[in-house]
Amino acid sequence: MTTQPCKPYPDIEGALPLFGHMPEMQRDTYGFYLRHHRAQGDSLRFKAYPFINFYSFAAPDALHHILIKARQKYSRGARWSRIVSYIGGNGIVTSTGDVWEKQRRAITPYFQPAHVDKYAALIVRNTAEIAARWEQSAGSRINISREMMALGLINISDMLFNYNIRPKVEAFGTSMMDGFFYINRFIQNPLTPPRLLPLEVNRRFARDKAVADSVVRDIIRTIRKDEDDSMVNALVRAGNTDRQLHDEIITLLMAGYDTLSTALGWCWYLLARHPQVLARVQQELDSALGNDMPSAQSAEKLVYLRMVFKETLRLYPSAWAIHRFSEEADEVMGMPVRKGSSVVLPLYVTHRHPAYWKHPDEFFPEHFSKEESEGRPRFAYMPFGAGEHVCVGAHLAGMEALLILATLLQRCTPVMADNRDIQPLVNFTLKPEMDIEAVAAPRNR
Ligand code: HEM
Repeated sequence: MTTQPCKPYPDIEGALPLFGHMPEMQRDTYGFYLRHHRAQGDSLRFKAYPFINFYSFAAPDALHHILIKARQKYSRGARWSRIVSYIGGNGIVTSTGDVWEKQRRAITPYFQPAHVDKYAALIVRNTAEIAARWEQSAGSRINISREMMALGLINISDMLFNYNIRPKVEAFGTSMMDGFFYINRFIQNPLTPPRLLPLEVNRRFARDKAVADSVVRDIIRTIRKDEDDSMVNALVRAGNTDRQLHDEIITLLMAGYDTLSTALGWCWYLLARHPQVLARVQQELDSALGNDMPSAQSAEKLVYLRMVFKETLRLYPSAWAIHRFSEEADEVMGMPVRKGSSVVLPLYVTHRHPAYWKHPDEFFPEHFSKEESEGRPRFAYMPFGAGEHVCVGAHLAGMEALLILATLLQRCTPVMADNRDIQPLVNFTLKPEMDIEAVAAPRNR
């Protein structure tokens, strides 16, 4: 915060009467933010419909201010939360106040490193099944995006709910994917026709939601028979009603697989296109693990692979932006923010900010070496967010990614099915514009 008078925002060209910059933003969401921030600076105010005020901040200090220092002035916003609740109900990603606090307290112990490390063997076992299948089908085409989606869902259901989702994984994954597409339309475009209108798109969403809900009901039925120390039982002990329990489970599934599976797909794609990086990863795996399966302990030795995964999340942060709503007027780095405004923190832009990254748009895992990291502000990189809503699954996601990549890369080499450049696309999270497809290529050692 500053005591200087507030500065004016730069004028941004291209605003249409009535619609402002919205059509441009809807056409090419992350490109819109990247272009304008690079041309006009870190603090921007865009024009939207007359009823929306909308700012975007890309400087690490601004992120720190909004997410931590002045967090009481901001919420996730009623509009954003209402839309996400179409899938997640009043779960931890959309709830507020006492409800949110109670759930966060109930689940946090299950995400502590000491607890999470116990899942390592299970993650490796589930991944090894895939590696074995790929080895047996050498030369065939594999859909990495679908494979990672299924693995992410199987892992999270096994770990958090002790529930075998395998027979339903395709149906559940597809219905969730369609659901993300559906809610993304509402997030991007406030003029999307309401959900309750009898349109085919709305009926289809209702069918998708029914598929996902039936899996969640099955999880609750199974778990209730079981007296184990799973996270769901902790939520039951915390006094949640069946409705609330349902919302927490679907929210945790939604938050826990899509972000990670998407990042793993991108990582496979990047490794296939950067043979020198891949060679170094394979060398590290051979010397750190040999033929042993990775474990939570041995994964600690995979320093370079960790850098590779961090770099993947820098270039393609699954949560490409964090959304907030100003409940009060504020001043961010000398710029005024009006009460009742949408505030976007585009992590995609901060992660590619030329002031903090030597090769902003290139895949360069050395960005995370000790030397390169020196002096870089902490908030220049925050794929898991920060402040009170910081990702509760960050440690789990980091460990799971390392174990999955290590297990697959010990036995298989990433080879793309074709040489196409794949661009990212905002679809709730930052997805590839098309499924990432590879060729099963067992490693010759
Ligand atoms: C690469 C993987 C992941 C990424 C990039 C990621 C990213 C994020 C980000 C940026 C937030 C903050 C959102 C905000 O401030 O509004 C968040 C919140 C959250 N994440 Fe993750 N996440 C990942 C994996 C996971 C996993 C494995 C889980 C496990 C279930 C999880 C559960 C959650 C939950 C429950 C929240 C909401 C926390 C709260 O509001 O208190 N995430 N995540």
